[in-house]
Amino acid sequence: MRQPPTEDLAPWFLTLPDLDDSLDWPTFFGNDQPVELDVGCGRGLFLVNAAVADPRTNFCGLEIDYREGRRTARRLKKRAMANARVLGGDARTALDQLIAPSSVSAIHVYFPDPWWKRKHRHRRIFTDEFLGLVTRVLVTGGELFSRSDVGEYFETIRVLVSHHEKFQELSTPELHHPEHDMDYLTSYERKGRKAGSEIHCGHWRYTGE
Ligand SMILES: C[S@@+](CC[C@H](N)C(=O)[O-])C[C@H]1O[C@@H](n2cnc3c(N)ncnc32)[C@H](O)[C@@H]1O
Repeated sequence: MRQPPTEDLAPWFLTLPDLDDSLDWPTFFGNDQPVELDVGCGRGLFLVNAAVADPRTNFCGLEIDYREGRRTARRLKKRAMANARVLGGDARTALDQLIAPSSVSAIHVYFPDPWWKRKHRHRRIFTDEFLGLVTRVLVTGGELFSRSDVGEYFETIRVLVSHHEKFQELSTPELHHPEHDMDYLTSYERKGRKAGSEIHCGHWRYTGE
């Protein structure tokens, strides 16, 4: 039987039940910097690199798998990072019930689980309802980024967002040539690119309430 985790990773890893009924970013991070979310942050390659590259922005990973979330948080703790945290729990609950409306400057949704089997597709996170939650928490002018190596899922995402009257599609940069094994946006992007998969990228601006 697996032993429960013992290392105290607070404040780098907290679960949704650890929080009060709401999440006040200035209290949570101890400053007024803009906040970006990484939905399904997994092993945290994006979260850690983005937070190191941009110390004037706070990054919060939302990860339903506590083991993965704690693994990422350990990397944040090791670096004593002040501008990055992981919240363990369902991102949809956080977006719906805990995060204050219009309080987030960008949301990143990279390589969401594809749930390949048709009978499991309803488990996919990126739906109309999810997009509604995104509009709830993004500030006007906030940005939404997504990537996937599953063409059919990405097309669903692209149609959902680009057809939404309050999102404007922006151009996406060319994928750069990685110089080493950590030089990818995320772990799943590395996996997809090494397998020769096409990487689909989306970038949109939320134009308002
Ligand atoms: C395919 S992995 C991608 C991880 C990372 N974004 C990357 O690109 O390497 C999808 C991640 O989303 C997490 N996830 C799935 N559903 C979630 C939900 N409802 N809330 C938060 N995280 C979720 C999974 O546990 C997993 O870590």
